[in-house]
Amino acid sequence: MIAGNHFMQTSDFTVEELTEILTLGSEIKKHPDRYKDVARGKILATLFYEPSTRTKFSFESAMYRLGGNVIGFSDPSTTSGAKGETLQDTMRVISYYADIAAMRHPRPYAPMEAAEGSDIPVINAGDGGNQHPTQTMTDLLTILALRGRLTNLTIGLCGDLKYGRTVHSLFDTLSRFEGNRFVMIAPEELSFPKEHIDRAEGRSPVSFTTSLEDALGDRGENQLDFLYMTRIQRERFEDISVYERLKNVFILDEEKMAQAPADMYVMHPLPRVNEITEGVDKDPRARYFEQAHNGVFVRMALIAKLLGLA
Ligand code: CP
Repeated sequence: MIAGNHFMQTSDFTVEELTEILTLGSEIKKHPDRYKDVARGKILATLFYEPSTRTKFSFESAMYRLGGNVIGFSDPSTTSGAKGETLQDTMRVISYYADIAAMRHPRPYAPMEAAEGSDIPVINAGDGGNQHPTQTMTDLLTILALRGRLTNLTIGLCGDLKYGRTVHSLFDTLSRFEGNRFVMIAPEELSFPKEHIDRAEGRSPVSFTTSLEDALGDRGENQLDFLYMTRIQRERFEDISVYERLKNVFILDEEKMAQAPADMYVMHPLPRVNEITEGVDKDPRARYFEQAHNGVFVRMALIAKLLGLA
């Protein structure tokens, strides 16, 4: 049962429920006109306590494209949080003003805390370095559109695997679908957290490398179907000198793409800094802008499902 729930992490939902949301997202992408009025009279509150372009605007676009309305703030310092109001109290009050809310916060688990005070569904739009479940739904819709399946895939996760919430959510989710393998491409200091791998209980084989070139050149059982690049997350480093040392560790350019499998797609949650050169954008395997576009359809599906409208 999806309607009426919070959407905090994909592990709160069954594979069948996640597939239901994705199926609706694909349907909306094909026939957006059929859904243009389903949320008429409903209000989405966007509570973003951390910067965002894609997630915030795609949520807002999704609600408007469903015929609903949006309220929110552009600067958290203008809210009563600045006077010391708790997130639970904030959400209790927002529940009177809106029908559904999307919250991003720099602190892990903050949206879960807020949801405790809420009478309306709250969606986690990214909590610190923890999870980004709606990005994962966007990623899954993109993978499904490109490969026609979410099973038996080899996915390379590259970059800041320690702080990157998108790769945590993506691994947690895709490891629940059958036959997927992962190649973790990261320096020691930014390696993928062991607790996520432990939680997958060996369902998905995982291998580790510090070399992007080696991962791209592999033509064995770890040949990549997808390379998921991520930004080195400057804002999460306690010691900025470590960031300075690691910030250029992986740069995907046209030369490296020439060594990659001909049918390997490149994804990235964006924003990018310098980890993918602009020259790669014109490569037909580069699909990160299409991925950002899919964020609207999947968020339309999620809002409609959580509100019990479709
Ligand atoms: N992918 C993503 O979360 O982008 P924003 O930070 O711009 O929302």
